Amino acid sequence: MDPAISTAPEATTQTAIQSPTLQSSESQWWRQAAVYQIYPRSFADANGDGLGDLPGVTSRMGYLTELGIDAVWLSPFYPSALADGGYDVDDYRNVDPRLGTLEDFDAMVTATHASGIKVIADVVPNHSSNRHAWFTAALAAAPGSPERARYHFFDGLGENGELPPSDWPSHFGGPAWTRVIESAGPNAGAPGQWYLHLFASEQPDLNWDNPEVREDFHTTLRFWSDRGVDGFRIDVAHALVKDMSLPLRSKPSLEILVDDGTDVLFDRDEVHEIYAGWRSVLNEYDPPRTAVAEAWVPFTHRRLRYAQPTGLGQAFNFDLLQAPFEATAFRDIVTRCLAEAQASGASSTWVFSNHDVVRHASRYGLPDGTDQAGLEAWLLSGGSTPAVDPERGLRRARAATAFMLGLPGSAYLYQGEELGLFEVADLPAGSLQDPTWFRTGNKVKGRDGCRVPLPWDPTGAGFGFGGAPWLPQPAWFAEHSAAAQAGVPGSTLEFYRAALALRRTLQTGESLSWLSEPGAALTHYTRPNGWGVLANFGTEVQELPAGIDPAKIVLSSGAPVAQSTGPTRVPGETTFWIAP
Ligand code: NOJ
Repeated sequence: MDPAISTAPEATTQTAIQSPTLQSSESQWWRQAAVYQIYPRSFADANGDGLGDLPGVTSRMGYLTELGIDAVWLSPFYPSALADGGYDVDDYRNVDPRLGTLEDFDAMVTATHASGIKVIADVVPNHSSNRHAWFTAALAAAPGSPERARYHFFDGLGENGELPPSDWPSHFGGPAWTRVIESAGPNAGAPGQWYLHLFASEQPDLNWDNPEVREDFHTTLRFWSDRGVDGFRIDVAHALVKDMSLPLRSKPSLEILVDDGTDVLFDRDEVHEIYAGWRSVLNEYDPPRTAVAEAWVPFTHRRLRYAQPTGLGQAFNFDLLQAPFEATAFRDIVTRCLAEAQASGASSTWVFSNHDVVRHASRYGLPDGTDQAGLEAWLLSGGSTPAVDPERGLRRARAATAFMLGLPGSAYLYQGEELGLFEVADLPAGSLQDPTWFRTGNKVKGRDGCRVPLPWDPTGAGFGFGGAPWLPQPAWFAEHSAAAQAGVPGSTLEFYRAALALRRTLQTGESLSWLSEPGAALTHYTRPNGWGVLANFGTEVQELPAGIDPAKIVLSSGAPVAQSTGPTRVPGETTFWIAP
């Protein structure tokens, strides 16, 4: 990619969205990067224990290089009891022995960099695990001690403190408070204080008013930056600062936020002081380390604050992920998000799948009109109706991905989507590991269905993953395996490889121009250097618009195009890329 060019397109445009001029320096690599998320436990297992590991990542460097991504983002690989898939961190500056050693990490970074790929690590600052040395010390200490002050310990309500300090629920079900048995102080041996955990009880929330907590995360950022990490993904970035003044304010739902920075738990204005401090640390490096906020903030003007150049620099944008497969919805989101990116100085980000949501090949295979949120809840619960239409789901997923990979900004991809994997919605109950399953009394299945270890080969134990996978793989993984698709024209893997290779060659500037009117049967945009994206979100075949040379269609999300002649019609639910 050449980030140096940001010129306005030709006069044929109807709507031009222009972002600030890019600097053509190495430090700007992230602005239009294709970032591939690796969920380490499910990627590749080098030592055969059934859990993916860091040597497994290194062993698949050829695959990553051939895929054509610019960076990998690794979900947590730190020591953890895996109460929440590694987002319960015991030690922020080490590697889980089951996943390798620090030396394995260094070897992986060296191999990744040698392949021209950057490395992004996950930082989990809202909570540690309950096995972290700080929390162990807090449990051993008495109420009011400095050890407890690194977390949020409160006396309960009710006559004997038997009620939680507030009505706050946990994201995974049940209350956000757990009561401890005191082991020190006058009350030793009896039920005592409560601690806050917005997620599982194994994930106590850290107290970010405590200077020691703030300082320790600076140490962590430097630790991994010194080891060559190029950037960070910040978990629940909007939750660090909370209004813990007494009496604690009521918040019976975590889903509803206010948009003025005064919510009791999320997106408070003060959180940006923390990230300004992080930016100073990240800027100690050359090139400066990048950071992307995971902040599920529904108000775009608020989300942008995380992406400020004086803050983290980028924020995940989940708008397309939450949208129906529909031209108007996609177009409106793109127009709005690019304008926002321009205002913030960041580049936009795009994503359809990650380790927390139902895979988009399944979401798009549900019957029309199915509510996305309701649908996700349904799929996660493992029901069997309405049935997913896999052919349609994958066709639309590929069309959406081609539409997205052509956009200005960074594209975040989730391992397995390049294999056309669907959600594994029928995992046996006994295999489930997501804390949601346990905290909802086995009502909500959780996110394991998108975390099943990858199939590399069509046959063999674990389909080439390594040992017996920690979540069972379905039989249909065979035909989705990497080896079954490599070199096969029209396979999803070859489609991703082709798209990512072309994206590198063709993507310039951070703007686009719409060539189609809103509501038109085909959605058409061009980039500054003249290459175009033409998407048919409908089911009817459409004639290629006059003026497009069929021979210039270089990529189709559907069947491969014969470049000598080129197609004269655009099939339903299909996206084309058109060379200048
Ligand atoms: C967001 C992560 O993506 C998710 O997997 C995790 O459960 C929560 N944060 C808590 O860390």
